[in-house]
Amino acid sequence: MRIGVLTGGGDCPGLNAVIRAVVRKGVGEYGHTIIGYRHGWRGPLEGQSMDLSLPAVRGLLPRGGTILGTSRTNPYKTDDGPRRVLATLARDRVDALIVIGGEDTLGVARRLFDDGVRVVGVPKTIDNDLSGTDFTFGFHTAVQTATDAIDRLHTTAESHDRVMVVEVMGRHAGWIATYAGMAGGADIILIPEEPFDIDEICDRLRHRHQQGANFSVVVAAEGATPKEGTMQLQTGETDDFGHVRLGGIGVRLSEEIEQRTGFEARMTALGHLLRGGSPSAYDRVIATRFGIEAIDAVHEGDFGRMVALRGTDVVRIPIEEGVSQLKTVDGRLFEAAAVFFG
Ligand code: F6P
Repeated sequence: MRIGVLTGGGDCPGLNAVIRAVVRKGVGEYGHTIIGYRHGWRGPLEGQSMDLSLPAVRGLLPRGGTILGTSRTNPYKTDDGPRRVLATLARDRVDALIVIGGEDTLGVARRLFDDGVRVVGVPKTIDNDLSGTDFTFGFHTAVQTATDAIDRLHTTAESHDRVMVVEVMGRHAGWIATYAGMAGGADIILIPEEPFDIDEICDRLRHRHQQGANFSVVVAAEGATPKEGTMQLQTGETDDFGHVRLGGIGVRLSEEIEQRTGFEARMTALGHLLRGGSPSAYDRVIATRFGIEAIDAVHEGDFGRMVALRGTDVVRIPIEEGVSQLKTVDGRLFEAAAVFFG
């Protein structure tokens, strides 16, 4: 078989580990030919591909990013997009496509599947917001990076008697904030799932400082939102999939906290740091298992599926199940984190 592979959306640690697994089993064991498409859906749209032979994937396991490149291109928002994608696949005599992506990239894969393209999806994102899988690879590494940063901010917060606001990515889900906040011993965690009241946050901080603490650490998900009418936020430009570019909540929060409480406050936005670097051991294993399951599915002709982690098992589910719903933070998990607030 001739099998295409692409990585789309925001990058995350572990993408190269998936590509390596697909090629090692696909070429090495099954004898298939693997073609890499460059820059997400832009590759099939513009006919940009690269060879993915065994030597091309040597040394990839610990490498961050994606050797294929990525983009947020949406063929359904591009002139004649779906037809151009199909034309490239026909030109390259591609029998099936392995699509490694988040909600948006896999959403396109699902539509193409309906249009007759034989696809298998692999869920990735640091945000961990895909339904159908217990975890996406990339999330664990992002949480570890954020936790290391929070640990470091703790010591400088303590030296200077400051409130540190740490903004982390996660889009409309608070998984990274909740996990990193819990692991880093945050005094407040703000997530999109639980709109916050700035007065209440400031009361908690005052209370903590009255009890003898001289510093605090607040972890805020980039998508955290104030309760209606309690604090003004700005909105930004949107991408090809209609998502607003988030970020900036940390600045607003630290200003408000300093103004209202009189505690000196500083803000650190971890941003794309969380997407960079080498995957954790856990993410390398999950990514490898996902890659193996994806190439097995293609080899067996089991299309329209997404590989997923359920408990400790890697399984296959219908692709629409994976992309149909945003997976938000479980209330009980957040309750456990909240025990340590203030
Ligand atoms: O979806 C992954 C993610 O890193 C989000 O957490 C974040 O909001 C977004 O991508 C940032 O996208 P960009 O790379 O376009 O700045």
